[in-house]
Amino acid sequence: MLLCAVLKKPIYLDYNATSPVHPEIKNHLPEWAGIWGNPSSIHGHGREAKRILREARQAFADLIGANPLELIFTSGGSEANNTVIKGLLESEAAKTRKQIISTRVEHPSVLKSLEYAEAHGFEIKYVDVNSSGHLDMDQYKDLLSDQVLLITIMAANNETGNIFPISKMTELAKKHGILFHSDAVQTMGRMAFNVEKTGVDFASFSGHKFYALKGVGVLYSRRGQNLPSLIHGGGQERGRRAGTENLLAIASLGYMAKKLSACDLHRESMMLLRDHFENRVVSEIAGVQVIGKEGKRLPNTTSLVVAGVSGESMLMSLDVRGYSVSTGAACSSGNPEPSHVLLAMGLTEDEAHTSLRVSIGWLTTTEEIDGLVDTMIPIVDHLRKLSQRQNLEASVEA
Ligand SMILES: Cc1ncc(COP(=O)(O)O)c(C=O)c1O
Repeated sequence: MLLCAVLKKPIYLDYNATSPVHPEIKNHLPEWAGIWGNPSSIHGHGREAKRILREARQAFADLIGANPLELIFTSGGSEANNTVIKGLLESEAAKTRKQIISTRVEHPSVLKSLEYAEAHGFEIKYVDVNSSGHLDMDQYKDLLSDQVLLITIMAANNETGNIFPISKMTELAKKHGILFHSDAVQTMGRMAFNVEKTGVDFASFSGHKFYALKGVGVLYSRRGQNLPSLIHGGGQERGRRAGTENLLAIASLGYMAKKLSACDLHRESMMLLRDHFENRVVSEIAGVQVIGKEGKRLPNTTSLVVAGVSGESMLMSLDVRGYSVSTGAACSSGNPEPSHVLLAMGLTEDEAHTSLRVSIGWLTTTEEIDGLVDTMIPIVDHLRKLSQRQNLEASVEA
């Protein structure tokens, strides 16, 4: 009976991991798949494919306030982040500027690229984030100097939804001639991000976080910044990223960019739903705390800690009952390590092990949110009793 219910309607509440493909995109796929030429070919088939590329590039540039020539299509956000950080290590400025500023709550594709930079002789300075999700701006200011090559700080955090003050930070960075990159992957479909208003030199985006297909991202690289290519071997993207373009996914990204430009991103309705979820869960389940609530947040993300309940057990129990949520970043799921984001915000390892992330999207309904809370209540009760029993048995054995 339970399995039937699960198979009938699994409910997806993990939009920060990925979003479903927009229904209108599904309708357009056969048409786009019919345009299969290689955009680098100069004959008719190639030109038709190139038109798709050009239109998508223009649509995305309009969305973020960029010039189309400032965009490089990549395979996703991870590649865009790697391209900026690793690419700049080879720049002229990198001969004299040997420091990079970042935070410890970045996506692993940034953190691992920073480890790479460190292995190549660069010093990484991390700005602290407090338990409310605020960056220590005094520390940030103190770290700025003409020794710094790059600042890479995300626009919004994938686990807590916390939003960082990018415009303020780029303004300060400019006084020292420091380049600024922002991983803006989680902003799309949740908040506006404009490269002129934020003043960034580089920004990363990913299609599958805003209802487009997987396998496409965008790197914004301000005019005049000549980043070396991470992938060599072809002249695509004006020599900035080799490899035949993922045309179908790029078409879907362009389509969604147009849609995002024309709508209010459903911010209000997502925020109302998120608040409804948080109010219910905090008032109906004892020992629940919303992480980063005091900071500015995306309208769709809730990060919780549920005292005495393992996030992993909660996730699996909810999954069996047809609810897809997360314990943190998608890439960390199945990984017993506690969330690096929550640890950086000052939670203990035990607390971080009790975390659960619920991230909603344009298609989420009140019924789904109410269903989740109604399902969570007995699960929390059961898991707490189970862990009390285990503790008791352990103490008797000892
Ligand atoms: C903040 C952030 N940056 C980068 C990425 C990586 O994007 P992609 O999956 O397109 O490589 C993600 C995906 O989880 C993310 O949330």
